Amino acid sequence: MSKLYKVTLKPSGDVVEVEEGKNLLVALREQNIYIKSSCGGHATCTDCIIKIVSGEDYITPPPFEELKLLGNVFHITKERLACQTCLTGDVTIDITKHNKATDEARLKNKTSNFSKKKQHTKIRKEPDIKKIRAERADERSKEEVENLAKAETWKKHWEKNQDSEAPKKLAGGKRPKFFDTDKVDYEKNDYTRPLSAEKQKLRDDRLETEKLKAENDKKITPSDKEYKKFRG
Ligand code: FES
Repeated sequence: MSKLYKVTLKPSGDVVEVEEGKNLLVALREQNIYIKSSCGGHATCTDCIIKIVSGEDYITPPPFEELKLLGNVFHITKERLACQTCLTGDVTIDITKHNKATDEARLKNKTSNFSKKKQHTKIRKEPDIKKIRAERADERSKEEVENLAKAETWKKHWEKNQDSEAPKKLAGGKRPKFFDTDKVDYEKNDYTRPLSAEKQKLRDDRLETEKLKAENDKKITPSDKEYKKFRG
């Protein structure tokens, strides 16, 4: 026959007996003592937390599942999961936060809110739906007109008076620059458009120099006849 240990419950001060090897959640529930639980003792909800007031040497160590949920902080919090705690001696535990009445009221509140929401659901008939759709379409078209008007007011002030059909000027209204090579007519070996006065002068000077140089070269170069005479 398994041993029985005494458990003193705070705050009521009641004393109950718990069998060795039976976890506190099951043992207390069997004696009609309320301990909250949502997972049914599978160490996943942490609802069954109790506080060990005294006799912490007479409880079994926390299994891995409990450590995963609560961490290794028992020496600070003195809290254990009732569903994972068995006894090896007499202990005192605090179950103040396990109040059946409060929990039931909270649950009722939740469900009553849900039912209230349900009452608000309206089932509409076909003509009503058509009417609402027409109204919404009207509202939408009104909104679109308003939005267009708003967009018009947000136009840049210099664009407002502009002809919307006119092509947009690029690069701030400047004409694109031509490359220098665009000005050259390669067939005639001349420029297609007049050069600036300064450039034209430079060009004339250059042409003059080239011409003089060519003439000088002509003078210096002996003619064929002279060359033959010289050679004898
Ligand atoms: S009953 Fe859920 S963790 Fe203990």
